[in-house]
Amino acid sequence: VAEVLRRNEVQPDLCVRGWVRTLRRGKEVSFIAVNDGSCFAALQVVAATELLQVLPDGLGTGAAVAVRGNLVASPAAGQAWELQATAIELIGPTGEDYPLQKKRHSFEFLRSIAHLRPRTNSFGAVFRVRSRLAYAVHRFFQERGFLYVQTPIITASDCEGAGELFRVTTLDMEKPPKGERGVDYRRDFFGQQAGLTVSGQLEAELFATAFSNVYTFGPTFRAENSNTSRHAAEFWMIEPEIAFCDLAGNCDLAEDFMRAMVTAVLEECREDLDFFDQQIEKGLIAKLEALARAEFARMSYSEAVAELEKSGKTFEFPVRWGADLQSEHERFLTEEVVGGPLFVTDYPKQIKAFYMRMNDDDRTVAAMDLLVPRVGEIVGGSQREERLDRLDARMAELGMDAAPLWWYRDIRRWGSCPHAGFGLGFERLLMYVTGMENIRDVIPFPRTPGHAEF
Ligand code: 4AD
Ligand code: MG
Repeated sequence: VAEVLRRNEVQPDLCVRGWVRTLRRGKEVSFIAVNDGSCFAALQVVAATELLQVLPDGLGTGAAVAVRGNLVASPAAGQAWELQATAIELIGPTGEDYPLQKKRHSFEFLRSIAHLRPRTNSFGAVFRVRSRLAYAVHRFFQERGFLYVQTPIITASDCEGAGELFRVTTLDMEKPPKGERGVDYRRDFFGQQAGLTVSGQLEAELFATAFSNVYTFGPTFRAENSNTSRHAAEFWMIEPEIAFCDLAGNCDLAEDFMRAMVTAVLEECREDLDFFDQQIEKGLIAKLEALARAEFARMSYSEAVAELEKSGKTFEFPVRWGADLQSEHERFLTEEVVGGPLFVTDYPKQIKAFYMRMNDDDRTVAAMDLLVPRVGEIVGGSQREERLDRLDARMAELGMDAAPLWWYRDIRRWGSCPHAGFGLGFERLLMYVTGMENIRDVIPFPRTPGHAEF
């Protein structure tokens, strides 16, 4: 359908296949809106009602059809072209019990029918934008000479050290020889403890010390049992890692990346964006256009805390130097203080991961979070500790066992160099560019507590 409409001209004898969105049967003439997912619009089919009368039962919303006909200028308002049918084939009939009848359904209801929701207008738009954006991610890095590295999903290292690793287990016990006990493999990965990755960063760092600029883009997992609109147990993360780069260069890259993603959506997903702008977040397009031109504000964590204290506002979570910023603080900073995206840098070491580079003050690390209005934290990154003695000292201070990270320490022994990188949550980016408010509604099959079946 997208191809047919893009040609924008009269076309004789076409064949279009898709699913019926709406059907209006008239005495003489009937109207069928057919959508095949290729674009937001449905193709308006105009058919003599007698063409429908010869079909078996089951032509209705949701049915799969093939329509042959001529594309002509449409006299009706609301569409430029219509297909005047010469033949209709009912490929897959439907019934009255089809859950997506013509009316507005809540996103909550649609989550319970995640196998059918891609057929709706809203989710059609979401998943087209998601696909296009995934392509734009690769294009951005490939055009800049970054190497795409596939980091492992099964791993023993808990990169963030937050204890959110899902453990990998096998289902079967090895069958015991008669009279003996079997080896219990259920609790581990062939005798080793392993889990699902929370981040590909540590492995990406290894590749950055060989290929200079690398990125990962893949699924990551966090066993955080929190029921928020911004957290999922399985989400996709984009993680560039750059050699010979410091914190400022890292922020520059994140800023360029965000602008490029927003520009791609504006230029390549216009029809879907128009829908989001009208139905989901008023003013979305203007917001994105502003971001594509903006320079992002930057302030240190200490400055951010001072801003929050200065505001005189009472927050649910009190503001205290050394405590992590809560989403109410993040919202206040982006929405009230700077009115746009904001990098917060140089966090206290005690609230950040072991690998971040210690600043000269010995209290803060070279961390950066990018916060955006409404969504909050969209990027987390840092300059990495490339000095082996400092890294060891920090791990010891945190009571970490350095032995399992021997390979990570090794790259600091031979040819170590300053390097930095960040992780951007792909779903948070999608929430930002579509205006969708729940992470469950921007991922095809959300993995949150209670949702594992399909
Ligand atoms: O801030 P995080 O935890 O940083 C890291 O994992 C670093 N190792 C990244 C790096 O430097 N290479 O996570 C990065 C981003 C967050 O800013 C957020 O956008 C997203 O990942 N994220 C989640 N998205 C959805 N659901 C969750 N549970 C998420 N946890 C983090
Ligand atoms: Mg973070």
